[in-house]
Amino acid sequence: MNIVKQAKNLRHEELQKWVQEISGVCRPDAVYWCDGSDQEYDELCSKLVEKGTFIKLDPKKRPNSYACFSDPSDVARVEDRTFICSRVKSDAGPTNNWMHPDEMKKTVRPLLEGSMKGRTMYVIPFCMGPLGSPISKIGIEITDSEYVVVNMKIMTRMGAAVLDQLGSEGDFVKALHTLGAPLAPGEEDVKWPCNPDVKYIVHYPEERSIVSYGSGYGGNALLGKKCFALRIASVMARDEQWLAEHMLILGFEDPEGNKDYVAAAFPSACGKTNFAMLIPPDNFQGYKITTVGDDIAWIKPGDDGRIYAINPEAGYFGVAPGTNYDTNPNAMETIKANSIFTNVGITPDGDVWWEGLSDAPPEGTINWKNKVHDPQSGDPVAHPNARFTTPASQCPSIDENWESPEGVPISAFIFGGRRSTTMPLVCQSYNWNFGVYMAATMGSEMTAAAFGQIGKVRRDPFAMLPFAGYHMADYFHHWLKFGRQLQAPPRIFAVNWFRKDEEGHFIWPGFGDNMRVLKWIVDRVHGRTAAIECPIGWMPRYEDLDFTGIDFSKEDFENIMSVDREEWKSELLDHQELFERMYDKTPKDFFFMRELLLSGLWRSPEKWV
Ligand code: OXD
Ligand code: MN
Repeated sequence: MNIVKQAKNLRHEELQKWVQEISGVCRPDAVYWCDGSDQEYDELCSKLVEKGTFIKLDPKKRPNSYACFSDPSDVARVEDRTFICSRVKSDAGPTNNWMHPDEMKKTVRPLLEGSMKGRTMYVIPFCMGPLGSPISKIGIEITDSEYVVVNMKIMTRMGAAVLDQLGSEGDFVKALHTLGAPLAPGEEDVKWPCNPDVKYIVHYPEERSIVSYGSGYGGNALLGKKCFALRIASVMARDEQWLAEHMLILGFEDPEGNKDYVAAAFPSACGKTNFAMLIPPDNFQGYKITTVGDDIAWIKPGDDGRIYAINPEAGYFGVAPGTNYDTNPNAMETIKANSIFTNVGITPDGDVWWEGLSDAPPEGTINWKNKVHDPQSGDPVAHPNARFTTPASQCPSIDENWESPEGVPISAFIFGGRRSTTMPLVCQSYNWNFGVYMAATMGSEMTAAAFGQIGKVRRDPFAMLPFAGYHMADYFHHWLKFGRQLQAPPRIFAVNWFRKDEEGHFIWPGFGDNMRVLKWIVDRVHGRTAAIECPIGWMPRYEDLDFTGIDFSKEDFENIMSVDREEWKSELLDHQELFERMYDKTPKDFFFMRELLLSGLWRSPEKWV
C-alpha cells in the first residue's frame, strides 16, 4: 500500500484492516487518509482544476467556488441500479431491487478488482450529525474520486476529528465508492470519469455497508446522504426504535418568541429546500422561519415524551434550476461563496446560470454539455437535475439550534406531493394512525429527478420510496408502533402546493405564502384555531387562513380545497393497488381506514368544500 497521506490519529484496527483489504482489491496507485482540513480541500480543488474537471468561478462574483459538468450518462440517482441486498428477499420488499448478498458480492467483486488502478484511493472518515451528538453516527467512505472528497467536506463533518470520535472500538458504516474507471499506465484521465455502462448502488443492510460502483454523481457517490442517512439508517432506526426520514426540519417563531419545529416530507423536486428556507410575507411581521435541515431528519424519542430531530448533514445538495431571489432568497445568499455547482451553465464572466435564475442567459453562456448555448436550439442551459453543494452554516436562516446535539423537539409532521388535482391545499389527519395512512399513500407527479414517466402520479410513501432500506410495509408498521409509544405524538398534516385550476395554472402562489398554511398548522398544534371535519380529515375554512396582502378569493380557496368524490374514488383505488402490492405485510389497519374514507366520501356531498 503506497500511503501518500497517513492519518495521525488512527487507532481502529478493524478500520485499518478494511482499508488494507479494499486497497488490495481495488489496487489504487496511492492511499490518502483525509484530514478534513481547509488546506486539503483547496489542494484537491486545485487538482480538479488542473485535470479540467473543475472550472474556478470568478473570485469576485463567486469567491472560492467551482463549477463542473458531469458525463451525460451520469446526471442523477440511478434507482433501477440501486439494490437492497438483505439476506431474505421479503425483507427488501416489492419496492426495492433485491439480490442475495452472496450473489451480489460475486457480481460486484470482479468489477471492483483493479477498479482504482491509476488513481488515488481516499479514505474519508465522516460523521452524520453533529460530532458528539448521541443521535449521530459515523461512516467511512473509501472513494477514488476527488470530486466526492470535496463534496463530502461540505455535506458532512469529516476528517481527523471523526477518527478521534471513533476511537479504537467505535462502530462505523463501511461505504465503498469507485468510479469504475481504472486508468492504464500513461492513460490520460477524462474530465468526469465514471463507468457509462455499468452502475451498481448496493446496500447490505444487515452488515450496515454500502458499495457504489460506476457513478460519480450526487446520491450515487456521496454515500453519507441517501445511501447511509436514509437506506442504511432506516434499518438501524427500525432495529433501535427511532426514525430516519426524508424530511426537512424548520423552526417557526412567533412575535412573542415562541418556537415550534416541524418536519416535512416531500418527494424529490417538490421544493423542500425552498420550504425549509421560507421568508414570511410582509404581513407576518415578527414571525421568523429558521432552517435546521432541507432533506433528511433523524428523530429519536426524548425522556420527556417528545421527539427530537437532528439534521445529519452539514450542507445542502440542492436543485439549482428554478432557484432565484423570488423562490428562495436564503438559498441564493447561501451559495454566494464556497460552493460547488454541477451541471449548471457558466457565463462568460465566470459566474453560473440556470433556468429560472433570470429571464435569459448572458450571450456566450456555456451549457452543461460544455457547448456555447444556442437560444434557438430549445436545449436547456442547465441540466434539470443540476445541483449546488453549499455549506449549511452560510444559510442566513440557519436555526440557532441546528447543531444542538440533542436535536430540536418536533411539534408536527407535514407530508406533501406534487398533485395537480385531488389533494387539497392542507388537511390535518384525524389522529396518528390516519396520519400514517395519509403519508403511506401519498403520491406525486413525476419530474426529472425521479425515475419514471414525467407527469404520472407515482405512489411515494413518506417520500421514502427510493430510500427505505427495508420492506415498505414493515416501515409502515414501524411508524404505527413508534406512535403508540409516544405520550403526545406530533400532529400530522398533508399539504399540496401544486393544485391547478381548469386552465392548468397553479392556484396557490407558493413559496413565502406557504407561511399562511404553516401558521394554521402550528395554531392547530396548540389548539388556537378552528377546523372543520371533512371526509379526509380536518380542514381550515376560508376565514381561518390569513390572506392579507394577496388576491386569493373564496372561490380560489374552494377550488384548492375541494374534495371531489369521483377523484377520490380513483385515488382510493390506487391506495388499494399499493396495499395489494405488499399485501402480506400491509398493516390491516390500512384496509379499515380506507373503508372509513370511502364511506365518509359517500356520506358527504359529491364535491366537498
Ligand atoms: C435529493 C433527492 O437529491 O431527493 O435530495 O433526490
Ligand atoms: Mn431528497
